[in-house]
Parts: sequence; structure tokens; C-alpha cells
Amino acid sequence: MHELVIEQVASRAAADQWHAICAAAAAADYVDLPTGPVVEVYERIENSRTDKQQELWLGSSDGGPVAAASLTLPMLDNTVNATVELLVHPSFRRHHYGTAMLDHLIERARAYDRIRLIGEAGEPISDQPVEQPGGPAFAAAVGARPVTIEVRRILRLAKLEPEHLARLHAGAIAKSGGYSLLQWQGPAADELVVDLAHLLSRMSTDAPLEDLDWEPEAWSAARYREHESAIAASGRTRLVTVARHDESGRIVAFTDIAIAAGSPTFAYQWTTIVLAEHRGHRLGMLVKLANLAFLQRSHPEVEFMNTWNAAVNSHMVGINEALGFRPIDRWREWQLELSDRQVIG
Ligand SMILES: CC(C)(COP(=O)(O)OP(=O)(O)OC[C@H]1O[C@@H](n2cnc3c(N)ncnc32)[C@H](O)[C@@H]1OP(=O)(O)O)[C@@H](O)C(=O)NCCC(=O)NCCS
Repeated sequence: MHELVIEQVASRAAADQWHAICAAAAAADYVDLPTGPVVEVYERIENSRTDKQQELWLGSSDGGPVAAASLTLPMLDNTVNATVELLVHPSFRRHHYGTAMLDHLIERARAYDRIRLIGEAGEPISDQPVEQPGGPAFAAAVGARPVTIEVRRILRLAKLEPEHLARLHAGAIAKSGGYSLLQWQGPAADELVVDLAHLLSRMSTDAPLEDLDWEPEAWSAARYREHESAIAASGRTRLVTVARHDESGRIVAFTDIAIAAGSPTFAYQWTTIVLAEHRGHRLGMLVKLANLAFLQRSHPEVEFMNTWNAAVNSHMVGINEALGFRPIDRWREWQLELSDRQVIG
């Protein structure tokens, strides 16, 4: 291997190079998963947050960029964990650049007293001998272990049948008396933010974590606002639908869809949660259907929507399958205990 020279991404020019590696890797490794626009990378290096610190690293060899990585350090909870992204340009794989960048991330994580790294990688769903992207083989080779199994599904909006959606809607309405829907694009109204923060905290405990070592996240109203600001600064449009329990006035169900700047045909179904004490009223289906209708009305140019769910999350998967989402590939989180890995040099 030629030497990998590693520099922190601190300028827009370096961010452009970092982004180009991510785009080349995504195009080679995955179907229908375009990399977000470079403004999302600018946001990550230019805006600071209280809930996490981020470092982006660029690796070059013989003067040309070959590897891109990030280290994200949760600062309010999970302060022994660090999450990582690690990508090597498809033309430069199997030269141990990935290993060299990983060793650098480990050194940085140790400097912040982190004890483990967590990263995710996609792989084909089928057991047929199709070409495997390097992520899982690399992760296993460096001593990480898989701790979750998620499936990415895609909804092709042109295939949606209005009668089918109307039937799902009628079924959800029949069971959800006593709840009202609210929806918006952009920042939430002030009076909702405490409830929204609570819902995001519950997301970190209620979605299946399987063997992932991740402690409950502490979301405050201020953290929620910071999250919203970061989404806006990265150029994303975000549509939110929530259900309010009429009797208590509390927001008890939440879902959001994001659209990246400059990729108007692609959307992401992000978080969906219903508070445990309000499950069984089809609120998950109701808020998702309403947000989908909001998307179709406000952004008719969107053609696809991606979403990820834990394979064991049968309720959420059931809703998505009923809506028409279909599996594309499988994603796992890999966890590397730093005590298990010696870095030489
Ligand atoms: C994962 C990735 C970063 C590896 O980068 P790389 O520079 O090719 O990795 P290395 O050359 O350092 O590989 C180290 C070892 O991992 C294993 N490995 C890596 N890629 C492999 C592959 N495609 N098939 C089998 N084993 C592989 C091998 O044991 C390899 O050692 P060897 O080449 O001496 O046999 C790269 O494939 C990539 O960008 N993949 C897409 C993004 C991704 O999944 N990232 C992982 C996030 S956790």
C-alpha cells in the first residue's frame, strides 16, 4: 500500500473531495441510494452542535483522495460510543486504505475516551452469490461484530393505488377516534416542542436495538430545535405529521419525511413512533398515510421513498409493506470494542 495521508476536512474544497468519494461509493455499492448534496457535508463541518461532535477525515494517496470517513461523538448520552462512516473509493479498495483510516478513527475515538465504534454497512438481501460490497467482510476482518439487522425498503410512488390507500385510511380512521392530526413543513410550533422531544427520546428506547450497546437518548426542547436547525442548514425539506390525543392534548404519534436539496425525486421516510400507551389505535398507519398524502400534494415530483426498519420490528414492517414499500437490501450495525483491537504504530 502507498502511504495514506489523512487530513481533517476543514474547507469546502476538502468537503467537495470527501463528498465525491461518498457519491462514487454509493453508486458502486447500492441501488437507488443517491448520496445527499454537498451542502449536507458543509453543514456538518461548519455548524457545531451541543448533542454531538463530528470530525470528517479525508485520506489521500499519491496526492489524490481515496478514502472518506467520519467520527461522530455523542456528547449528552452514549458518551462511551462513537459512530463512524468509512468509505474507500471503489477504484482503490483492497489496498488497506480502509484499515489505515480505521486505525486513525480508533486513535481519535480513544482520545475522547470512547470504548467502542459503531458503523453500518449494507449487503444484498438475497442468498444468491451476487457481488458483495466490501463493508461486511471488512468489518468482520477488523474484529467487529454485527449487532442489528435492518432492511431497507423502497416505495415507488407511481405504483400507489388511490383506492388501496383509501381502504387503509378508512381502516385507520375507524380505530383512531379521539385523536387529531397536525402537519407542517419546517419548524414546529413552540407549544409542541416538549412533546416532540419526548417522542424522540422514546424512539431511542422503543425501536428494537437488538445487541447494539446504545443507552436511552436524552432529548430536550433545545436539542429538538438544534436538530431542526441542522436539517434546515443542510438544505433538507422535512414534512412532519403528528397525532394529538384530544383528551390530554399531548402529541402521542409522530412521523417525518425528508427530501434532500437538489434531489427532488427522492425522499426518505425517517422516524415513526407511537407512544406505548397509545398503541393499538392504528395511529402509526394513520400518521404515515397522512404524511404520504402531504408529500404527494406538496412534492409531486418525488418518485421514490427509502426507509430502514429493524427486521424484527414486525409492526412497523407490516405498516410499510401494507403501504407498498418493498425490500431492497439489508443493513447491519457493526460494533467494534476498542479493547479488542490493537493499533500498531
Ligand atoms: C469497507 C471498505 C471501507 C474497505 O476498504 P478497503 O480499503 O478496501 O479495505 P482494506 O483493504 O483495508 O481491507 C482489510 C481487510 O478486510 C477484508 N475485506 C475488505 N474488503 C473485502 C471484500 N470485498 N471481500 C472480502 N474481504 C474483504 C479483507 O480481509 C481485507 O484484508 P486483505 O485485503 O489483506 O485480505 C470499502 O469496501 C468500502 O468503502 N465499502 C463501502 C462502505 C462500507 O460498507 N463501509 C463500512 C462501514 S462499517
